[in-house]
Amino acid sequence: MKVTIVGAGAVGASCAEYIAIKDFTSEVVLIDIKEGFAEGKAMDLMQTASLMGFDTQITGVTNDYSKTAGSNVAVITSGIPRKPGMTREELIGINAGIVKSVVASLVQHSPNVIIIVVSNPMDTMAYLAHKSSGLPRHRIIGMGGALDSARFKYRLAEALGCPQSDVEGMVIAGHSDTGMLPLTRLAARNSVPVAQLLSKERIEQVAEETKVGGATLTKLLGTSAWYAPGAAVSSMVQAIACDTKKMFPCSALLEGEYGLSDISIGVPCIIGKNGIEKIVEIELSADEKAKFMESAEGVRVVNDLL
Ligand code: LAC
Repeated sequence: MKVTIVGAGAVGASCAEYIAIKDFTSEVVLIDIKEGFAEGKAMDLMQTASLMGFDTQITGVTNDYSKTAGSNVAVITSGIPRKPGMTREELIGINAGIVKSVVASLVQHSPNVIIIVVSNPMDTMAYLAHKSSGLPRHRIIGMGGALDSARFKYRLAEALGCPQSDVEGMVIAGHSDTGMLPLTRLAARNSVPVAQLLSKERIEQVAEETKVGGATLTKLLGTSAWYAPGAAVSSMVQAIACDTKKMFPCSALLEGEYGLSDISIGVPCIIGKNGIEKIVEIELSADEKAKFMESAEGVRVVNDLL
């Protein structure tokens, strides 16, 4: 299994690190446009192999996509991250051009590749990857819901005063501060609905903290986060590499599911060796449905800027 990670910045490097440490794939290629940068990150990571106990071979290359040839999975993290006070949507001008050319280069050298899009505004970048490549929809997956759900679980565990391994929760819809839909109705601690354990106000607070999870970190760090995004991507790559059929909310191109078409937005997906193997249509309440549709409208507004 060969995995390419485009962009050796903080998210790309964290992603490479977690993939290597989990030791489920033979080869990771890290590619960046900055001369020597990916080579340096790859060398630094390779010098942790004997310490961390992995055999994954990590190679760094500067802009030479021929070295990515035959990749089974490619992760696109390239583009600029947001600065404090910026929304993900403000990045579209620069990132759209980058993502489009990266997708073309990847597909040219790896015609069977499954692409995971991380660059923001992610739902629109995933949509652009679909539109510009024409690849079957199961082979382009937007990473947002896996990360947002991890942030939701962090906030739920904090509110409940319990370990994160006790909690279940999922965030669907758009990967934006206003568009995310944390499914609080379905969130649970050991199968007990959180509505039985937390007040309505506290649950509402958890949902709000989850939605601005990325913005909160951007404010603290001065740039966008990388550990949780890297870990979320690595879990998705693992699900493909190991054909686990794990369910993640992912940005998928919809063709009638959830009453929508021609849009890539976060919905629960089964991930396996073929990428998105199934889109799971769960029953939403009237309120959730309305919020989901509102979020989709927000994604379409950004898509129209392409
Ligand atoms: C975040 C970026 C990866 O939410 O979108 O941190």
